[in-house]
Amino acid sequence: MADNSKAAPAPKENMGQPIARYEARQKVMGGKIYSSDLPVPGKKAYAWMVTSTIAKGRVTGIDETAAKAVPGVLMIMTHKNRPALGDIASFLKGGMFVTDNNTLSGPTIEHEGQPVAMVVAETFEGAREAAHKLKVGYAAESPSATFESPGVTTRPMGEINPRYKPVKFKDAAAALAGSAHRVDAEYSTPIQHHNSMELYSTTAYWDDGKLVLHEPSQFVWGLRKGAAAQMKMDEDNVRVKSPFVGGAFGGKGAITVRTALAALAARQLKRPVELVATRAQGFTISGNRQETQHKISLGCDAQGKLTGYDHSMWEFTSRVTPYNNGGLDNCAAMYDFGAVSGQNYIVQGDRNVPNFMRSPAEVPNIYALESAMNELAAAANIDPVAFRKMNDTRVNVTNGAPYTSRSVNACWDAAAASFGWDKRNPEPGSMRDGDWLIGWGCAMATYPTQMAPSAAKIVLRKNGTALIEVAAHDVGTGCYTIAAQAAGERLGIDPSRITVQMGDSRLPPGPISGGSISTASVTSAICDGCDRLLTSLGLTADDAKASDSADRLAAALARSGRPVAEATGAWAPIGAPDDAIDRLYDGGLVFVGGAGEKRTMFAFGAEMVEVRINARTREIRVPRMVGAFAAGRIMNPRTAHSQYMGGMIWGMASALLEATEIDHKRARYTNDNIAEYHLAVNADIPDVDVIMVPEVDDEINILGVKGIGELSNVGTAAAITDAVWHATGKRVRDLPVTIDKII
Ligand code: MOS
Repeated sequence: MADNSKAAPAPKENMGQPIARYEARQKVMGGKIYSSDLPVPGKKAYAWMVTSTIAKGRVTGIDETAAKAVPGVLMIMTHKNRPALGDIASFLKGGMFVTDNNTLSGPTIEHEGQPVAMVVAETFEGAREAAHKLKVGYAAESPSATFESPGVTTRPMGEINPRYKPVKFKDAAAALAGSAHRVDAEYSTPIQHHNSMELYSTTAYWDDGKLVLHEPSQFVWGLRKGAAAQMKMDEDNVRVKSPFVGGAFGGKGAITVRTALAALAARQLKRPVELVATRAQGFTISGNRQETQHKISLGCDAQGKLTGYDHSMWEFTSRVTPYNNGGLDNCAAMYDFGAVSGQNYIVQGDRNVPNFMRSPAEVPNIYALESAMNELAAAANIDPVAFRKMNDTRVNVTNGAPYTSRSVNACWDAAAASFGWDKRNPEPGSMRDGDWLIGWGCAMATYPTQMAPSAAKIVLRKNGTALIEVAAHDVGTGCYTIAAQAAGERLGIDPSRITVQMGDSRLPPGPISGGSISTASVTSAICDGCDRLLTSLGLTADDAKASDSADRLAAALARSGRPVAEATGAWAPIGAPDDAIDRLYDGGLVFVGGAGEKRTMFAFGAEMVEVRINARTREIRVPRMVGAFAAGRIMNPRTAHSQYMGGMIWGMASALLEATEIDHKRARYTNDNIAEYHLAVNADIPDVDVIMVPEVDDEINILGVKGIGELSNVGTAAAITDAVWHATGKRVRDLPVTIDKII
């Protein structure tokens, strides 16, 4: 037998069973479980987008002659013949879309890679050939590509968001001026793209005036709502199916232009149309993590007690839709700062609209803060772990709101014990193994505990099996499995007897699968549904906990005379607006959590890494990483282990490998493929030690779940740059850390 103890750790206190995920076998065997695998009625036609080769200017003409001559071409759609669409709005403006501008709405080009036409043909190859033969003429202007490009517009966040308030707690400048030690440093993070294995695809067909969309989505109810408005239809006449998602990371949360293109083509051709964005097109149709710059001043007194923290952050965004992450209010809650000021700015240029990508605000912001924490600890000659512990806090100092739980110190202890941190010689360059310079670094991981309203329907059958229905999503996380575990526990049924249906807009609404909210939100709705079901059968929680719970359920169902027992739960987090459930059923977005007015809710972790840098070539390897995390109730230590490990690997890749390069003159992404956009491969992946630290939080939601999807890739980059400094004495403050920066 294989040793599963590492991948499927035994549960500790407040953890569920490490059962294998429901779809494990199908995934390993290549089962047809993704939306583009679903059968459609009739013969599919294939659509291909033609995208702009310039970043700014306009289309002057389109010559279709050669394209039309390709055998099997069925349709060419441009801004000249695109049928009418309803108005759309981005998340920023309360809508569901990546951008505020409809597709093919005119000749104006706002970014490179903007769709300018769609070709549909009998075959995939025919559509591709015709797309390449479409001659698009442009009048190009000089675009603003990124920070420091001529023509960018820099604005304080308040100019685009009237509700934005800079962070201000006491007098940070005065506190910094009186500090015994201080760090003044600038940090920057690059453009990154989600690059899920599964591409952005949409298959659309019409059935008696109703639209069916097979599209990988993090939010099927939101997609239904947005697509219906765009197609000027009743929401009930649109159905979205997305049973499993092959990676999303934020890129499949907001609606892209491809959905309407496929729907329009299918309507006109009266047959199913499949549109798959190429890997390169995926770089511009669904946003990306935008590049950021940070200027931090951080000070402490002679004993190491933090005094002042000043953080200015600039993020790049588009002109049309200035999507932004902000998020400095979360940073301000992290430590016992004596005084804080934080300012956000946006810098706009001629680029596609960015959108959320895994831990959108925290990855860059906490990288900058944790880097400054490491630098200040070194300046004060204090061990970085001890330095964090002495500045720990139980409240968000800026508003006094207490943490519902915060087990970061236990995480530090667990990580340090496993890593052997006490053997670290603090002197940079002091640890060496032959040609290899060894560096040890650490940083805190954190992510706000966020939640959203959710519904869930539970059906109990006479044969003792149950069914759960909720339009939540499994983006690779194990959501089906933990849903069954939650219901199984609440009803006293073995999870193997529970079937779960998700990823279909016909099911009761679940929240967007983003912001690490799914487990907290969906298990709460399931518990509510189970409680209602028990009550309707005259049973109590004690009946469900009894050793003969299955018999009690069966007897109660028989007594009721009903063929099945059903109940629909609906749950909204504390602090949600009164109409949260209505908004849920309306396909809306309601988020609660993080640094709130009354409560401060975050999950935490501690990460330690070893880097080895070749003394001659400066090649960087990471042989081992340790992460210890506490995130309230862990539903399933096996799926949780995978998520934590995947996050740490991504965090490492994000520090050392990942960056989208841009042509500064043309504002084009130059490595828009996964040969040149570097992600970690097996040989890059070290020994990853994941430790789950038990934590109980009774305040956040029914089961006390914090959510872990985005926790473990936060802070990793700061741990790596600290280890690079420890090995070489060189501080790299501009990610990713590539060889040229440490020569
Ligand atoms: Mo993820 S960036 O929370 O969709």
